[in-house]
Amino acid sequence: MTSPRDSALVRAARKQPVTHTPVWFMRQAGRSLPEYRAVREGVGMLESCRRPELVTEITLQPVRRHGVDAAIFFSDIVVPLAAVGVDLDIVAGVGPVVAEPFRTRADLDRLPELTPEHVPYITESVRLLVAELGATPLIGFAGAPFTLASYLVEGGPSKNHEHTKALMYGDPRLWHDLCARLAQVSGAFLDVQAAAGASAVQLFDSWVGALPRADYEEYVLPHSRTALAAVAGRDVPTIHFGVGTGELLPSMGSAGADVVGVDYRVSLTDALARLGGRYAVQGNLDPALLFAPWPALETKVRAIVEEGRAAPGHIFNLGHGVLPSTDPDVLTRVVELVHEVGAR
Ligand code: CP3
Repeated sequence: MTSPRDSALVRAARKQPVTHTPVWFMRQAGRSLPEYRAVREGVGMLESCRRPELVTEITLQPVRRHGVDAAIFFSDIVVPLAAVGVDLDIVAGVGPVVAEPFRTRADLDRLPELTPEHVPYITESVRLLVAELGATPLIGFAGAPFTLASYLVEGGPSKNHEHTKALMYGDPRLWHDLCARLAQVSGAFLDVQAAAGASAVQLFDSWVGALPRADYEEYVLPHSRTALAAVAGRDVPTIHFGVGTGELLPSMGSAGADVVGVDYRVSLTDALARLGGRYAVQGNLDPALLFAPWPALETKVRAIVEEGRAAPGHIFNLGHGVLPSTDPDVLTRVVELVHEVGAR
């Protein structure tokens, strides 16, 4: 393996033959690692994302420790929103909190277009990382319009997304205008990372599983498609992920990604049937299984790798992010097992 283009991750995403099943973990860079907690001591989350040396160190930590097949860029989905001037903070143990929630047409004025000049620290961080990573691919990412809208409209994390849905169903024109702006921000944020050298990008629509499929297609899909289309000319494979999206999988595929993320509620076998064999898949170990005794975890990891062999491409991952209290040694062991069982 000589360059990220030839890596198992990029090849699997492109449905090309691989030497082994590639593996990485959502939230692999974060609180499960003592070395992360040490370097983050006393530095706020948003501030951390604006310091290229720190971003580089944190992004590299899980690559060094676990031997994963890709690095996920250390940042957050709300970083580009803060960059264009939205007053928000990321509160430890809570998540993104927006000072003034978005509810009216006048609020659109608080969401200007994102240009690379808004995020010079992202370009610099990606460049530093690409130089350090060598043949290991860097995955850039952005939040998808629905998930970003949920934080803006609710003002913070939400279980039921009631204000978001009230706006979406109650004022569809404003909803579409808001999502069009978010699609621009999201797409431009992906493009900045791809332009600086990221080898793949992932669009996170973490909370879109809250919608039925017909409404997803009407209110969300066109905007996610716009965000993904922003990198169409960059020759980087794209991954599209959400939680609780079993019913939405075929529609999420049609947004234009190469890889569809599968959460743990749907088996890879069922997901492949729903997707009609057209996409590579990523997933789908339940992050809570990392707390189970090794034999139970091993059985599940082996089963997922085997199911993935039927896919046109399979990237092993969790069904959602690493939980902060996960034992990092278990993650390392899972990587070793996936590489062993997934060898071709
Ligand atoms: O390895 C990685 O994946 C790190 C990069 C990363 C972060 N956030 C760092 C982070 C990525 C890809 C994200 C994306 C993100 N942020 C998503 C989509 C992925 C998902 O989990 O569904 C979402 C929904 C957010 C919004 C957000 N930011 C949440 C829900 C939280 C957790 C709040 C908490 O403290 O429990 C954050 C903060 C955040 N983003 C942390 C990290 C490492 C924790 C902050 C800290 O360590 O102080």
